[in-house]
Amino acid sequence: MSRKIHIYGNWKMNQLTDDIYNFFDEMADDSLAELKCQGGIAPQFPHLSLVKEKAMPVGIKTGAQNCSHKTSGAFTGDTSPEVLKDLDLDFVIIGHSERRTVFGESNQLINEKTLLALELGLEVVFCIGETLAEREADKTFDVLRTQLDEGLKGVPASKHGDIIIAYEPVWAIGTGVVATPEQAQDAHAFIREHLSNNHGFNRKELIIQYGGSVKPDNAMGLLSLPDIDGALVGGASLKPGDFYELLRIGSELTP
Ligand code: 13P
Repeated sequence: MSRKIHIYGNWKMNQLTDDIYNFFDEMADDSLAELKCQGGIAPQFPHLSLVKEKAMPVGIKTGAQNCSHKTSGAFTGDTSPEVLKDLDLDFVIIGHSERRTVFGESNQLINEKTLLALELGLEVVFCIGETLAEREADKTFDVLRTQLDEGLKGVPASKHGDIIIAYEPVWAIGTGVVATPEQAQDAHAFIREHLSNNHGFNRKELIIQYGGSVKPDNAMGLLSLPDIDGALVGGASLKPGDFYELLRIGSELTP
């Protein structure tokens, strides 16, 4: 594998201000800046600037967990991707399964958000994944294909390098049930194949993260698979020791 491993933490709706200071105090280590993998953290919106201030000096990217499909206007409660760019943030997570299920986001809305965020110069972590019922009905690849085709419709080739795909099987998120190496590798290989054959992505450069109950003790097994280039981590990214260990493992596997 010749790709740089990307380990991003999705803090979801967790962490108070003190927790963030403690997190970075505990992570403070000279070796952080020397890690070879790419780290990233997505806190809640009000904490973006604080996290950026702490993360940037050690080479960790900062991003948002969601954004609006519009740049400005009467959209109470939404956050414009233009503001994310204005704050000099690096990336935005779009299409997370919690946005899809809890907030009813459709592939079409996700597509609008993706196109706008990319146009404004943000990196997009584009999330897809099947539910347990869909996997059991043998529909995994159909679901992934539809999410990719509808969600990435119209993305210009010049922006392919700004997209990271996060494969997050819904049944593995926050459950402690991690996909087996075979299940994860099969899905990742399918995604790489589909995006290179049908969307013109460069198969060697495309970064595909796995997400769903990634922990330090299962990360090496997943990240050493040929089509897994990183992880999108929920629970374990809240613990500085675990997150550091994931970054260390990612660096060991980064050429
Ligand atoms: P967990 O690592 O807590 O399973 O969450 C995964 C996730 O949803 C990351 O976006």
